[in-house]
Amino acid sequence: MTVIVTNSYDDSCLHAARMIREVVSAQPHAKLGLATGGTPLPIYRQLIAWCKSGELSFANTRTVNLDEYVGLQGNHPQSYRYFMDENLFNHINIDKANTYVATGLGNPEESAAQLEAKVYEGGVPALQLLGIGANGHIGFNEAGTTLTAKSHVEELAASTIEANARFFDTAADVPTKAVTMGMKGILAAESLVLVATGANKKAAISGLLMNDVVTPENPATFLKLHKNATVIIDTHLADLIGYQY
Ligand code: F6R
Repeated sequence: MTVIVTNSYDDSCLHAARMIREVVSAQPHAKLGLATGGTPLPIYRQLIAWCKSGELSFANTRTVNLDEYVGLQGNHPQSYRYFMDENLFNHINIDKANTYVATGLGNPEESAAQLEAKVYEGGVPALQLLGIGANGHIGFNEAGTTLTAKSHVEELAASTIEANARFFDTAADVPTKAVTMGMKGILAAESLVLVATGANKKAAISGLLMNDVVTPENPATFLKLHKNATVIIDTHLADLIGYQY
């Protein structure tokens, strides 16, 4: 695992955006694995800026997203399809037909099976972007998940529902289930880039960076088994966990 410690969250996002730019420039037909949530927003803003200035083209890029809430239609403002359209796809020259976010409607098991197929269709992602939950979840793989889990329907942890309630009117509006890529598909990507910031990620990132333990209780620790994983944190988070840089 490569650990990068930057001076600020903005710098972390710039670093991650540059890693994505490198992949897209070198392999215009590459598939990118993408994430939602608050963390990647500045990364997406940077990619949009480069695309608008002509420095980067997504004309032939394909994408697959980590997860989607069960029960939300793609035009629901809190659905992850809507999030991706609003925060990235609508502002870059990507062909939407080449973007895949699992469907939140219909049979969730079938949606998970479709997502699983999309992870591998035409080759695995060259780069999978990741955030991390306060409890260490990756995608929506909550504590207790397995290394071999394929895309599946996950019952969200109470802490995840609480964390995501900030995007909804009330916690009761947060879906309790999601379709998520499993750890197997996530670890299949050629490279992984995880960005983390904020004191609420302290325990999860400490488990990832401060020991050699791999445990399903902190799914992020599975990244220790990947041959090309980069974790980008800022000095504030590094200091909080006592990581030397
Ligand atoms: C989102 C996802 C989640 C988030 C995690 C952190 O697609 O897979 O694992 O990355 O919940 O969310 P934020 O970035 O909002 O702290």
